[in-house]
Amino acid sequence: MRPDWKRDAFAGTLSAGTISLSDIVSALSFALDLTEDARPGHAVRSCLLGMRIGTELGLPDQQLSSLYYALLLKDIGCSCNANLLCEMVGGDDRRIKRSVKLEDWRYPSISGLKLLWEHAGAGEAILMKSKRVLSLAMRRRRFRNELVRLRCECGVKVGRKIGLPEASVEAISSLDEHWDGRGYPERLRGEAIPILARIINLAQCLDLFSSENGTAAAMRSISARSGSWFDPELVRVARALSQQNRLWEFYGSGMERKVVLGLEPGMIVRADDAQIDRIAEAFADVVDAKSPFTYAHLLGVRDAAMHIARQIGMSGERLNLVYRASLLHDLGKLRVPNSILDKPGKLDFMEWQVVREHPGLSGEILSRIRPFQELARVVGEHHEKLDGSGYPGGLKGDQLSIESRIVAVADVYGALLEDRSYRPGRSRAAALLSMKESVPGKLDAECYEALAASSASGLPFARRDSSHVHRDMYG
Ligand SMILES: [Fe+2]
Ligand SMILES: [Fe+2]
Repeated sequence: MRPDWKRDAFAGTLSAGTISLSDIVSALSFALDLTEDARPGHAVRSCLLGMRIGTELGLPDQQLSSLYYALLLKDIGCSCNANLLCEMVGGDDRRIKRSVKLEDWRYPSISGLKLLWEHAGAGEAILMKSKRVLSLAMRRRRFRNELVRLRCECGVKVGRKIGLPEASVEAISSLDEHWDGRGYPERLRGEAIPILARIINLAQCLDLFSSENGTAAAMRSISARSGSWFDPELVRVARALSQQNRLWEFYGSGMERKVVLGLEPGMIVRADDAQIDRIAEAFADVVDAKSPFTYAHLLGVRDAAMHIARQIGMSGERLNLVYRASLLHDLGKLRVPNSILDKPGKLDFMEWQVVREHPGLSGEILSRIRPFQELARVVGEHHEKLDGSGYPGGLKGDQLSIESRIVAVADVYGALLEDRSYRPGRSRAAALLSMKESVPGKLDAECYEALAASSASGLPFARRDSSHVHRDMYG
């Protein structure tokens, strides 16, 4: 039997760390919002609503704790199906995902067809687009099932890696099941669906419906789906809370995250260094899973960065900083559609603009955690170059810390070793030779020499067999 969540994963360290687990997880949930093109703060607002419902139901503390983290991390598996979605629909996976969630695909409908027509086959000739839309409409249920199954499998894997309790993992895996047995992927019915999954499904839909059309429309939508999508008892509880003006309290106030941090059931769980590293590793998996061309990119960059850091004599807190920054530097890529990430040819101007936003986004997400300001700065600078030719800030020389320089060198090295859709990866020697042209103008000489020394010793960093589309100055 799996031990208790707090005693198991986190409780032994209540006084060891200074950062709360909820602070980290709620901030990183903004990265998960990007994968679904949800309004920023979707997971946090879902948590606010779901915890109100769970508390009103009188769930015990331990169950509420599992619900709390499952609500924040409900979309942890969502990056896994982005490539498949992009391939099948042929458009912006993020925009499609947002629309798909609100549509009832169980029955053919005009609105479903309109949605497919709007999103599928972007840029294709009319005949090709019509064929694609028809094919998707005919196979809509199987297609949706496949997407949800992929997301569930990934969510379970990453959730366990983080150390979530089994009740949270189970809830994340079942959150698209419907009360009437016509949901996804297992067609569970009624009380066979875990109660936490039923609450999460209702809470996330309340936020999505409300974000589209307001809270009154959201209440009408859940009432209309009571007994089909949602557990009627939960809908009754939500309606009662709404009538008492308690369901939507603080919703839309801009204070949702602060309120959610105060909602953590039981004692505040503090995260120690090992737990923070484990969460960083799990989120690196989420980012790398978005595209088949990013297999293990972040793990490879981490390995290269750690070798450079050790080679130049770094230790302790500075080493921790490099470890986490190298794993989290591409968080913002979760907002880049797969039609750009997986594109075999050159990017056009607008596509480049989207790519260039990702370091800033990575920094913005991490800056929500007060003790992570330095980490946020380093990830935000991973595409800056010493001569000011990088992005997003065009920072120069002394403006870039040693940690930023290490991650930048490791990132370029990783990108050069990895295969891309339009060219194979290079050998270590060829990658180092190519990088040498940028030393010391763009890349730090000390970091480059440290990398070259590590590489010469044959250390096993940067996954040579990975395919990776990474849009940098070499791409
Ligand atoms: Fe990047
Ligand atoms: Fe990268």
